[in-house]
Amino acid sequence: MSERIRIFDTTLRDGEQSPGCSMNLNEKLALARQLEKLGVDVIEAGFPVASEGDFESVRSVAEAVSEVSICGLARTGKLDIERAAQALESAAKPRIHTFIATSDIHLEHKLRMTREQVIEQVERAVSQARGYCDDVEFSAEDATRSDRDYLVQVFSVALEAGASTLNVPDTVGYTTPEEYAALIRYLREQIPGSEHAVFSVHCHNDLGLAVSNSLAAIMAGARQVECTVNGIGERAGNTSMEEVVMTMKTRPDVFHDLHTGVETREIYPASRLLSSITGVQVQPNKAVVGDNAFAHEAGIHQDGVLKATITYEIMTPESIGRASNELVLGKHSGRHAFRNRLLELGLDVLDDDFERAFKRFKDLADTKKVIYNEDIEVIVADSVVTCDERFELLDLTVTSGNATAPMASVAISVDGKPHKTVATGVGPVDAIFKAIAELTDTESELIRYQVHAVTAGLDAQGEVSVTIEENGRRVIGNGVHEDVMVASSRAYVHAINKLEWHKRRRDVNEPKGI
Ligand code: KIV
Ligand code: ZN
Repeated sequence: MSERIRIFDTTLRDGEQSPGCSMNLNEKLALARQLEKLGVDVIEAGFPVASEGDFESVRSVAEAVSEVSICGLARTGKLDIERAAQALESAAKPRIHTFIATSDIHLEHKLRMTREQVIEQVERAVSQARGYCDDVEFSAEDATRSDRDYLVQVFSVALEAGASTLNVPDTVGYTTPEEYAALIRYLREQIPGSEHAVFSVHCHNDLGLAVSNSLAAIMAGARQVECTVNGIGERAGNTSMEEVVMTMKTRPDVFHDLHTGVETREIYPASRLLSSITGVQVQPNKAVVGDNAFAHEAGIHQDGVLKATITYEIMTPESIGRASNELVLGKHSGRHAFRNRLLELGLDVLDDDFERAFKRFKDLADTKKVIYNEDIEVIVADSVVTCDERFELLDLTVTSGNATAPMASVAISVDGKPHKTVATGVGPVDAIFKAIAELTDTESELIRYQVHAVTAGLDAQGEVSVTIEENGRRVIGNGVHEDVMVASSRAYVHAINKLEWHKRRRDVNEPKGI
């Protein structure tokens, strides 16, 4: 009988801690729904005690998603666990994940606690968590730099107190595959009753070994992998979900009798959704989801692939939901054909968002000869409203050239009323941004401006992401258009709308440091 490897997705918690990857509530909900479609087993939706915003995210995801276990993170303190339990009240399948560090380095320098005190905390916290729900996970932070026999003691206490998942994090990305596998084997052998626990692995990628370490741990008996979409996470990131899942799927001869519940055709849509929300693109050569992951440039490879794909292709783009570069729709396609194509691409949108996306598609079809599935995906992502929009771009005219001072004339609707201004700048984008800043009265600072071509070809749409910051709050806005100046304006206005939305909600962004 094939055994299931549980996929525990922590994109919304550990992943969100990576610089530039913070998400607002609507964005987290959109991602959580995509993770549900993907078929992950657990979604770690946040760290409820860390801030009101985190609490609200866990609560809302727990309400919106019923097929998947929803998990809230908590340190071992009473309040942490109470807040996690409150946030999970409406979850169909709640899980409390409590953790404390176990390495002497952390005990001495961070916690200033003795080993005995930590053990008491573990016993107390797991018992408290079990008072709220049956599904409790315990993590020994910095496990891979902890004394092995002390870890046996700590995990034994956690298991005895009612934890059913025992997580062995490589918090600082320090271990190696053989060492990690040996640790998992040792814990399974030494912990009394370990056959009743699910061993979980949680790796960071500081040495580029997170996926290898996780796979080695599976071979040693771990049955849950903690990971993130695109491998996002603090520092060098976490284990990449798509790499673990596709390795297991592509090599059933190695991982025989093991499977995940992931619908792999939802991998690419999940990766694209995350990139469009955060504005952080994956590197082109990223395994599985990078732009070049299926591109064959070398002549000898192209020749082989044309003769038989099996020569150089170990998995197909379709298997991860990456639509081939076919022409999908033209300017005569109607609503019905557009709706069908969205369904085929797994893009489920609400009616208002659909109407906006359809209009954008028609406008694009007037100017762009070939429309690819990727074009449709970005149009849809750009048409989904993720926050109230106080400002809307109405009109833009830009002049620039080698003998003219760049100038932009911009019209924006502010709370439904049109306003117009003209500005000059060192370049056209500078002129546009100055005009928009004047009309919206924004005091934010521009942190990053990025342009990315959605497909190949001179008529490709430009996908622009703009990062701005005000009073310590950083947000990313996105815009897509075949005219990069329009895409830039949309991205900047989107970012300002997001800041405005946060200001209105007075959502306090307390530090989340663990
Ligand atoms: O890296 C880590 O140790 C963690 C724990 C909270 C599981 O993220
Ligand atoms: Zn972590």
